[in-house]
Amino acid sequence: MTVIFSIETSCDETSAAVIKDGREILGHTVASQEAIHAKYGGVFPEVASRKHIEVISPIVTEALEQAQVGWDAIDCIAVTKGPGLVGSLLVGVNMAKGLSLATGIPLLGVNHIEGHIYSQWLADGAEEIEFPLVILVVSGGHTELYLMTDHCEYEHLGGTIDDAAGEAFDKVGRLLGLPYPGGPHIDKAAKLGDPTRFDFPRAIMKDGYNFSFSGLKTAAMREIQKLERAGEDLPINDLAAGFQQAVVDALVIKTGRAVAQTGAKGVHIAGGVSANSQLRREMAERLDVPVRTPPLFLCTDNAAMIGAIAHQRFIRGERSGSDMDVTPSWQI
Ligand code: KG4
Ligand code: ZN
Repeated sequence: MTVIFSIETSCDETSAAVIKDGREILGHTVASQEAIHAKYGGVFPEVASRKHIEVISPIVTEALEQAQVGWDAIDCIAVTKGPGLVGSLLVGVNMAKGLSLATGIPLLGVNHIEGHIYSQWLADGAEEIEFPLVILVVSGGHTELYLMTDHCEYEHLGGTIDDAAGEAFDKVGRLLGLPYPGGPHIDKAAKLGDPTRFDFPRAIMKDGYNFSFSGLKTAAMREIQKLERAGEDLPINDLAAGFQQAVVDALVIKTGRAVAQTGAKGVHIAGGVSANSQLRREMAERLDVPVRTPPLFLCTDNAAMIGAIAHQRFIRGERSGSDMDVTPSWQI
């Protein structure tokens, strides 16, 4: 049995978890700063790192208490060392280093995106997962397609050439006057809207696996400005539905293409945007291989997924030195 204590502070969630054998959550706490950043319309980096400093100690203590274990039960202290906001990452990494030094427990820095991928191994039915898999990581900072051939083995197929999908959701949400982050609010509004009223462009439908969302964002902006100039009330639900349909089409078509061309046995969607109800539904309906999405509480940033990937790396013998540094733009 391996028990990992994990910490995540790469963006605006402060989180700690205790994970058994990479599969079972023994303790898990998440403090979200969403309400604080909402008034800035996006994550304010200096505020984020200050908030992480304020809450990280109680978050660590609470995760251990929930798990009802002491440090003597922990085999490894894992932490996200990138990618993310440098000031935010530093808070988690310094906390993990301090805990490791004080307890003598080995330290391991892991990749946040790989954490999102491993959130699926915390869900029910993970023992049935078969490689190779096509992985779609869709978050506020990333839209990437990978072929995962085995545990910890990836081939990068493609990604966004401009905005990330979540970024597009958040920017269009702001244009529609919805609170930050826009993604969940657009998801909700779209349920009440007509996706055919506005025909927005589908990003790069040509060959390959790259995405582009800036043209879609501009098209939505132009439509909104046109309606505003005409003095009309914004049909928020229809605009949200049209925009969301365009994003979902692009993501489903490219993921389906990757499955067809690689012969993958399944698809995993991970990252904040994988919480989107239409994306979850259409990906499962339109592809003919099993599509797995993590439970909603594991879609956005959390330390449980960091413990899940750290388990895989720890059992492979990986360790980090006490001189470990943050890697804010680390890609897998
Ligand atoms: O993975 P995450 O928590 O943080 C990053 O690493 O970026 O993802 C946050 C992103 C935000 O852009 C947010 O708007 C989006 O995930 N998001 C959603 C939904 N829930 C969160 N986007 C669309 N539909 C949702 N239901
Ligand atoms: Zn994330």
